[in-house]
Amino acid sequence: MSNIFYVGIDLGTSRTSVATSTGKRITTRTCVGYPKDIISKKRFGKDYLLGDYALDNRLGLNIVWPLAEGVIRESEKSLEATGLILRHIIAEAIPDKKESDKIYAGIGVPAQASLNNKRAIIDVTTDYIDKILIVSEPFAVAYSIDRFDETLIVDIGGGTTDLCRMHGSIPEKEDQITLKIAGNFLDDVITKAILEKFPDVQLTPRIVRRIKEKYGYVSEVSEPVVVTLTQNGIPAEYDITDILRESCLKLTNPICKEIQKLVGTFDPDFQEKIRNNIIIAGGGSRLKGIDRAIEKSLRDYGGGNAATVQDAEYCGSIGALKMCMEMPEEYWEKI
Ligand SMILES: Nc1ncnc2c1ncn2[C@@H]1O[C@H](COP(=O)(O)OP(=O)(O)OP(=O)(O)O)[C@@H](O)[C@H]1O
Ligand SMILES: [Mg+2]
Repeated sequence: MSNIFYVGIDLGTSRTSVATSTGKRITTRTCVGYPKDIISKKRFGKDYLLGDYALDNRLGLNIVWPLAEGVIRESEKSLEATGLILRHIIAEAIPDKKESDKIYAGIGVPAQASLNNKRAIIDVTTDYIDKILIVSEPFAVAYSIDRFDETLIVDIGGGTTDLCRMHGSIPEKEDQITLKIAGNFLDDVITKAILEKFPDVQLTPRIVRRIKEKYGYVSEVSEPVVVTLTQNGIPAEYDITDILRESCLKLTNPICKEIQKLVGTFDPDFQEKIRNNIIIAGGGSRLKGIDRAIEKSLRDYGGGNAATVQDAEYCGSIGALKMCMEMPEEYWEKI
C-alpha cells in the first residue's frame, strides 16, 4: 500500500524550512557549494555540499545562493541548486519514503512571485513531488496561526518583506505587497555604516549577519554593543551601539510605509481593526524591539498594535503544511 506524505516548505532567500505530516522539522541555509577544483573535489568526495555544511567549508567551494529577493534567479545553476536543496531536504525529512509513496508539497513563495517563478519551482521538483500547492508566504504564516480575520501579516525575510492583509477569505493581489527591503538590505546597511566609521576592519557577510542576529535592536536604548573585529588580522574591540540602532531603524521605516498603504486602502470600517492586528513573522521578527518600533513609526499614521510570532523559524512551513493537508483539489497546481 502506498502512503501520502504531506510536506510544507518555506523556500526562502536565506533559509529553507520544512515541516512534514510526520512531525519532522528541518531547516537549512538556501545555498549549495560546488568544489572549486580537483583538490577540493578530492577532499570532499562529492559534486556538491549543501547549506551550513557548504558554508563551513566555503574556502574550497563556489557558493551558489539560488534565490534573490525571494525568487529563483534566472540561471541554469540556480535552478539546479534549488532542485538539489529541495530534493535533499525532503529526502531528509521523509527518510522512510518507499518508491510507491507519494509526496504532496505546499511551497511558500513571496506574495508577488511571478508565474514564471512558480513554473520554475514546479519544473525543478516534478521528479520527486507528486502534487504541489504554491502558496503565498505571508498567507501561509496567517494559516499557521489561524488568523483569517482582519489581520496584517508582515513577514520580514532575507530578500523580501512580504505583507498580506487578511479579511476572512483568500487574500487577493491587492491585499499583498512584496518589499525588497529585508534582512539582506539590513546587512548591507550595517556593513557600510561600520566601514564608514572603522574603514580598516575586516568584515564578511557572515560576520555582519552574526553581529546583527546577536545584537541587532530597534529600541531607544540598549546595553553598549562592543564587538571584537580584526584589522590586518589583529583583533580589537569596537563599540557599534549607535551604528546598530541607526541601521536597524532603516529597516522599520520603509516597512511601516507599506503597512500604512495596506491599511489606508482597506475598507474604512475595518481599518482600525487591521491596524491593531499586525503580526510580524520571518527571521527579521527576531530583531529586538521590532514590534514596539513598528508601533512607534505607526504613530505618525494613527497608531497600531504589533506582535511577533512565537515560531519565526517554522511558521511559514507549518502554514504551508496545514494548507496542503486541507486545500481541496482545485487549488493544486496541474503538474
Ligand atoms: N535574531 C535575529 N535578529 C535579526 N535578524 C535575524 C535574526 N535571526 C535571523 N535574522 C535575519 O532574518 C533573515 C532571514 O529570515 P527568513 O529565514 O525568514 O528569510 P527567508 O525566508 O530565507 O527569506 P525570504 O522570505 O526573503 O525569501 C536573515 O536576514 C537573517 O539574518
Ligand atoms: Mg521567508
